[in-house]
Amino acid sequence: MPAGGPTQSDRSVRVQVPGHEYEVRIGTGLLSRIGETLGASSSVRPGSRVFLAHDANLPQAVASAAGRSLETSGFRVSAAALRADESDKTLSALQPILVELAKSRQERHEPLIALGGGLVGDLAGFAGAIYRRGIPVIQCPTTLLSMVDASVGGKTGANLAIEPGDSGLLKNVIGAFHQPILVLADVSTLISLPDRQYRSGIAECIKHGLLSADFGDPGLADWTAAQLDSIVARDATILAELIQRNIAVKAAVVRGDEREVSPTGGRALLNLGHTFGHAIETLTGLTLPGFPAGPLLHGEAVALGLIAATACSAASGSCPPSLLAQVQSQIAKTGLSTKVQGLPPDAQLLSRMGHDKKVEGGSLRLILPAGSGRSKVARDPSPAHIQSGWAAIRA
Ligand SMILES: NC(=O)c1ccc[n+]([C@@H]2O[C@H](COP(=O)([O-])OP(=O)(O)OC[C@H]3O[C@@H](n4cnc5c(N)ncnc54)[C@H](O)[C@@H]3O)[C@@H](O)[C@H]2O)c1
Repeated sequence: MPAGGPTQSDRSVRVQVPGHEYEVRIGTGLLSRIGETLGASSSVRPGSRVFLAHDANLPQAVASAAGRSLETSGFRVSAAALRADESDKTLSALQPILVELAKSRQERHEPLIALGGGLVGDLAGFAGAIYRRGIPVIQCPTTLLSMVDASVGGKTGANLAIEPGDSGLLKNVIGAFHQPILVLADVSTLISLPDRQYRSGIAECIKHGLLSADFGDPGLADWTAAQLDSIVARDATILAELIQRNIAVKAAVVRGDEREVSPTGGRALLNLGHTFGHAIETLTGLTLPGFPAGPLLHGEAVALGLIAATACSAASGSCPPSLLAQVQSQIAKTGLSTKVQGLPPDAQLLSRMGHDKKVEGGSLRLILPAGSGRSKVARDPSPAHIQSGWAAIRA
């Protein structure tokens, strides 16, 4: 095995997009070997400056281990701690990162490492996309959601505040496609992830199972359903397989439609559950039964969105009603809520769906599960069917 190469227990997925290919490595202890890994990479020059943008909530030992490994391998490290707060994921949070990059005299060929969950990955990745018109980015996801989804595929971005308050925040409407040069998913970082955050990530895995048949893994939904107890218990072996299979599905989707332009679905299929989910994610005044009042986490909103999309699909006859019961039961088994209290009236929710970026030329494009691991695009579904979706999650 070459120094800096994968160990026998590491897993790997290749992501290919036009003109660019990169590795996603999945394993334990990857961050404490990151210096060796970059040292062995042909895309990073020896002795480069490396900018480590890390989530301020990570245990200190995680960022320190990565920093130490980089320094031991001869890299010159500058670091910045970022607050992972959705209301701070705005243009104003970009400025200090860009200033730090400039102050550390980071050059165009020198990489930025985004170490954290999807929020830090999106924000630091966006800074990497625009600083000097794009520097190499290495994504090191530390949440389940960012390992199986956000770190792969090159979407970076921030929210746009169009009105004061959380409900005036438009999710991810600004950003750039900027593929990383490498993704290191160090499964051992998940140990410190709070339970609620961890379970949120499982929602994206359930989503992938609802569309994976067209992307090389028709058995993913059944396997995930059968392994849910082990997944919830964070069994390391099952987790490594879960992450690898989910990344492989995402990679297959992205390979066919990097820029989300396919008229037949492609990357837009990954928005399954998100149009419903985004409409409520930044709403205040919602409560999940059994949880303290407060904003929903992204994965919690996606879980509810998956149920709403499946109910909408079942109401329109696009999937068997039994699929709704299956999705509800899987989500309940992970400990995620299947209902939410305090939803505003349907008319307001419909209008919020119109703000979502999945609106094209004034028409609403929803992704709906079709059964047997497949999902499809529905253009302008009837308001009555959409209302069935909201009714399914209204507590
Ligand atoms: N780019 C994409 O393709 C894509 C896809 C999905 C979601 N996203 C974005 O990702 C964000 C959500 O990401 P997320 O669910 O990973 O949450 P997050 O990044 O907001 O992190 C959740 C919380 O966990 C903390 N945390 C992260 N890793 C930790 C660890 N190992 N131990 C302890 N605490 C840890 C964070 O500080 C934060 O408080 C949203 O902003 C969403 O828009 C992007």
